[in-house]
Amino acid sequence: MPTQVAKHFFLLSGIHQTLPIAEVQAILEAEDYRYKILENLTQVLRLEVDPESIKAIQSRSAYTRVCCQEIFSCGANLSEIFDCIRSASLDNFIGEESFAVRVRRIMGVAPEIDRVDLERKLGEQIYELGKKVDLSNPGITFFGVLTDNKFIFGLKTAEIIPKPFSERRPRMRPFFHPTAMQAQLARVMVNLAQPKKGDLVLDPFCGAAGILVEAGLIGCRVLGFDAKPHMLRGGHKNLQHYGIEHGVAVADARYPPVKEADCIVTDPPYGRSASTLGTSTRLIVEDFLPVVSDRIPKGRRICMAAPQTTKIAEVGEGAGFKHIESHFVFVHGTLTREIVVFEKT
Ligand SMILES: C[S@@+](CC[C@H](N)C(=O)[O-])C[C@H]1O[C@@H](n2cnc3c(N)ncnc32)[C@H](O)[C@@H]1O
Repeated sequence: MPTQVAKHFFLLSGIHQTLPIAEVQAILEAEDYRYKILENLTQVLRLEVDPESIKAIQSRSAYTRVCCQEIFSCGANLSEIFDCIRSASLDNFIGEESFAVRVRRIMGVAPEIDRVDLERKLGEQIYELGKKVDLSNPGITFFGVLTDNKFIFGLKTAEIIPKPFSERRPRMRPFFHPTAMQAQLARVMVNLAQPKKGDLVLDPFCGAAGILVEAGLIGCRVLGFDAKPHMLRGGHKNLQHYGIEHGVAVADARYPPVKEADCIVTDPPYGRSASTLGTSTRLIVEDFLPVVSDRIPKGRRICMAAPQTTKIAEVGEGAGFKHIESHFVFVHGTLTREIVVFEKT
């Protein structure tokens, strides 16, 4: 049976330029949804995709804010916007339920348009169809975004609340260590490795287990190693706290005591807060990547973070992996992280 596809758009976090888009694509690929990119705008990704895929984005994504089924897109000017809303088949999107209209403006575009006034005027067009307005508890929400001199308008199908991620920030966990990664970035890294629910995710430098917590929360089985027993005890405590079944063991990541995992997501030590045990990140990764190359199946992925200066993509290619993508995340003046994705060929 052919898959039903429709136009959707996603309002993305503005925290990073490339990671939010890559995360949506990775989730769709992990969950076997085909998609076609229609347009990549500032903080908005327009896709043609199966509406069923929205559940996967909603349950997995860290950097998506709102998902919408698209009704129209046009230039960011009032005459085009009102022409489009008047000719849109809105009855296909709204029944007897009450509605509200919300508009977001990205990076100050189209300052001549009064956002609240636009919400009200769009609402009036829908109200004229005999529909009921409810601004505090609407049955459905129409959502528009002004970005890059365009206006994209649709029916909101899902919203992702970032609060649970901030509630899992490193300082809120039972075991805290300064090397721990923010929950949202850890979740994005897990998604970039494209595990499915039930897959075994390995973090061989697991530390406080921030990555494994995020993998466990999307239904993956998780396994972690760390060379330092006290770090592993902390990681175990954190995993227990979030109710995640797990396996952990004291082990050197360069000699991992596991035959196979479905994918690897990891953040090796940088020799700053996390000790490299007398060697360097580059040397550790040069030893580690060739060893784990035969511990994941062909076509599966590794997502790793390292200081940009480590040139980790080069090391992965040297170990025979295909370099899929790199994203650069500024941390502070002397540290920019490279988030890299490799595929086993
Ligand atoms: C950057 S931390 C991991 C932080 C973790 N991703 C988090 O968010 O909580 C790196 C960890 O690697 C461990 N480590 C260092 N060398 C190792 C090795 N050769 N094998 C395994 N673990 C190692 C350190 O003890 C440290 O806990």
